[in-house]
Order: sequence, then C-alpha cells, then structure tokens
Amino acid sequence: MKDKFYITTPIYYPSNKLTLGNSYTTIVCDVLARFNRKLGKDVFYLTGTDEHGQKVSQAAAKAGVDEKTYLDSIIADTKDLWALLDISYNKFIRTTDEYHEKAVQKIFTELYKKGYIYKGTYKGWYCTPCESFWTESQLIDGKCPDCGREVKFQEEEAYFFKLSEFGDRLLKLYNDNTEFLLPKSRVNEMVNNFIKPGLSDLCVSRTSVKWGVPVEFDPNHTIYVWIDALPNYITALGYGSNDTTLFDKYWPADVHVIGKEIVRFHAIVWPAILMALGIELPKRVFGHGWILFGGDKLSKSKTALTKECIDPRVLVPLYSADAIRYMLCREIPFGSDGNYSTEAFLTRFNADLSNNFGNLVSRTFSMVKKYFDGVVPECADSEDPDDIALKDFVKAEVKNVKEHIASLDITKAVISIFNIFTEANTYIQKVQPWAVAKLEGGETRLKQILRLLLEVIRIGTELFQSFAPNATSKVLTALNLDPNSTFDDLESFHQLEAGKKLGELGILFPRLDIKAEMEKLASL
Ligand code: MSP
Repeated sequence: MKDKFYITTPIYYPSNKLTLGNSYTTIVCDVLARFNRKLGKDVFYLTGTDEHGQKVSQAAAKAGVDEKTYLDSIIADTKDLWALLDISYNKFIRTTDEYHEKAVQKIFTELYKKGYIYKGTYKGWYCTPCESFWTESQLIDGKCPDCGREVKFQEEEAYFFKLSEFGDRLLKLYNDNTEFLLPKSRVNEMVNNFIKPGLSDLCVSRTSVKWGVPVEFDPNHTIYVWIDALPNYITALGYGSNDTTLFDKYWPADVHVIGKEIVRFHAIVWPAILMALGIELPKRVFGHGWILFGGDKLSKSKTALTKECIDPRVLVPLYSADAIRYMLCREIPFGSDGNYSTEAFLTRFNADLSNNFGNLVSRTFSMVKKYFDGVVPECADSEDPDDIALKDFVKAEVKNVKEHIASLDITKAVISIFNIFTEANTYIQKVQPWAVAKLEGGETRLKQILRLLLEVIRIGTELFQSFAPNATSKVLTALNLDPNSTFDDLESFHQLEAGKKLGELGILFPRLDIKAEMEKLASL
C-alpha cells in the first residue's frame, strides 16, 4: 500500500477577501502536498473556511446582505484565488457545510457527556455595537479595541471545556514527541506562556452570538469559535458521519500547517479535545512565521494602508503564480518571520527565475538545437572530472532536497534546488561547449556535455515542479517527459530518451525592467 500524507491549512475567516498572508500558508502546503505526490504518496490536502461568528455577521450586514449570500461571494473569490495560485487541494471544507455542523454538534455533546464540558458563567467587557466580549488585557485605554467605544462589564451563561485538566498530559506529549510541535522553539513558548502559569478552562459557547452552530441539547447556545473550527480537520474526513472511510485512511494528519499566532489553539486546545475524545493526535503541528510588510504583519485591516500592490489577484496575471509561489517560499525562511517587498520580489524574479533557471534551460536547449538539430544526444557515461564533479554535486543536493522536505523546510529545499541550477550554469562557463564545438573531433565531448546538462535540468526541474508547477511542466514536456508522473530514477543521468527531438520552449520568465514595474505597481 502507498504511504499516505495528510496535510491541512488553517480554515480562514471569510470576514474579508483573503490576502497574500493567507495565500502564503496555502502555497506552502501546496508545495508539500505536490512534493509528496511526486514521491508517490497518497496525498490528501485539505483547506477551507471558518464561517461562523460575529465578524461574518457584521461583514454581511455592512455589505447589506444576509450571511449566506455574503459568504458565497467570498468563498467563490477564495476558490478563484486558489485556482489562480495553482493550489491542488483535495477538499475544501466550509464550516457551514451541513455534515460539519452535525459532526460538531455530536462532538460537543460527546464531550459534555464525558464530563469535559460543563455550564458556567462567562464574564468580560462587552462592546454592544460590536457585540463582542473582551478581556481586561485586550482593552485599549479601557475601550473596545475594535471600535474604540465604551465597554461594559457583563456576564452570560456559557459552556466551558475543562482545558485546565490537560496541562500535565500536554507537557508529557511535548516531552515524548519532540516532533509534535515545530519549529522546536515554539514548544518553550507554549510551556512558559500558557502551561506553566496554569491553563484556564475555555469558553466554548455563547448565547450572544447567533451566527453559529447551536448546542444540540441547549439550542440557546451556539458553539463558540475554536471548538467549531478545529474539528474541521476530522469532520472533513467524515468523522461523526456515516462514512468514515477517509478518516480511517488519512487520520492522523501528517501535519497541520498554521501561522504562529494560532499555535496555542493547535498545540494546546486541539490535542486536549482529541485526548478527551480518545482520538489519535496529529503527527506534527508546524507554526510558521509571518510575512511582514514594511515591518507589519500583513493583516487584512492593514492591507488597505500599504502603498505597494500586494494583491495576488493583480500580481499573478502580471508575473505568474510560479513567481509568487517561488518568491514566498524562498524569501521567508520557513518557520521565521520574513519581509515581503515588491522590489525583493522583482529582483528575485530576474536573478533567480529569469537569469538562473530560465537562462540555464534556454541556453542548453538552443545549443542542442544548434549542434544536434534539437535531438537528445546519445552518449556513454563520461569520466571527465568536470562531469563527475557536477553529478556528485547534483546527487548530494537531491538528497538534501528530500531531507529538507521531510523535515518540512521548504526554504532550504528550494535553495538546494537552485544550487543545482547555479552549479549547472557554472559548469557551462567552465567547459565552454561553444569552444568544444569548434575543436576537431569535439563532437563526442560536446554530446556528453549537452546530454549531462539536459539530465541535470531534468532533475532540477522535477524537484522544482512542486514550487513552480507551470513553467516546470512546460520544460518537462519539452524534454518528452510526462509532467504528471512521480519521480522516476531521479538521480540517474541516463533517463532521457536519446534520439528524441526536444519540444519548443518559449521564454519561461522574461526579464523585467524593475524600475518600470515598480512604477506600474505603485500606480495601480
Ligand atoms: N479561522 C482561524 C483559523 C482556524 S484553524 C482551525 C484563523 N483564520 S485567519 O483568516 O485569521 O487566518 C490566519 C492564518 O492566515 C494564519 O494562521 C496564517 O496561516 C495565515 N496568515 C495570515 N496573514 C499572514 C501573514 N502576514 N503571514 C503569514 N501567514 C499569514 O485564524
């Protein structure tokens, strides 16, 4: 049986159009999903939207429509965005899907029956216009942090989840399984900030929020945010329904990828819920860093304030999904915060995609065309020291790429892939095929050189395909390979069929005039 790989993004709030920030997580997961498919695994990639709660109601009211109408338009836009970015998800879950609502009700009732949920009183500072509760520390100058208006202290009946009982079991989890929460630095944050000071029980229902899933046995209450959202990872697989085939096949998740601000919910609340239900825990939770924009988290509200165009809906048609995907994976060290800027994006486009990868492919293809009529040269294995050095280099980087992907480090993986392209370009400069072509009897050597370059391009392109699926698929097709096949003899340097003519390739990443592009983007 094939190995399985189940990967998830957070389910995003559709209280606004999704941003480059949300796209980041979705792209990163897509790279991991695609790479694991290329490895031959049976991959299930889940994404979706978190559609209940006050914010959605408010956004709908502001747009002058009901929640459902509002949500349908945002979800259509979200799916368009994922199509634009070449996201290959297997399932899109909406928490307003009927099967999810039913399963969440069941989960809530089961936790209640098992004694993990009890009725109590929720106390907090209430902002009437925003219909939101705030804790003392969230208030800004004693006022609502969202609208700046007066708040009043209020109490309401609510259900609570006994999170306080799980501290020791969570500590044991982090100790026994050092891969559970990644990067490892996040473990200390959880232990020091939340577990050591003592976990409080979590409020899991509201009577003041109407747009939500009603508690089955007490319908005045709606199930509040996290206990509705987190179970999406299992309800999407059919948990709590009549058909649990997918759940039996794919659970536990191989990795939940999330932004660092919601690690607490995924590394404390979610495992506690699963422990209470007696369900196996996910294998890994990865809390990546933030894309910073001029030093700020690119949150939805900030987007409007920024001067540079960062809307993927604008950037993709101009520069390709491949370029955005590559840039985000390469520029933000996976696991840490990183800066996005238009200039850095355009610079990487030229330096890495156009000059390095694009140029390697185009000059190799033109030399094959010029010297061998575009036909893949037949030749025996070469013992030339330059060739052996290049092959050893490539083999070592292939190994590195696989290891980095296994440890989820997509930035290091893509750097290793580009090391291959850089090394191949350096090799061209060194062996100077154009000079070899002029030597008498140089044909055999020329064949070896170009054949090796084509094989190295094949290997690098196969590896790069998960990051930049479009341009790479064109290259693989031009090499007479099936872009949809899994890795086949990746480390072999005799994979291409000799005697076959290469397909035509246009320019993959046309060089940009950075200044002109910056001006164009600023004017949009
Ligand atoms: N609905 C919750 C998640 C529930 S998961 C069971 C939520 N939604 S959200 O719309 O606010 O999305 C937050 C996620 O979007 C982050 O965790 C991260 O994955 C992604 N990002 C949003 N802005 C981002 C950056 N500026 N940088 C990196 N990731 C960003 O929280």
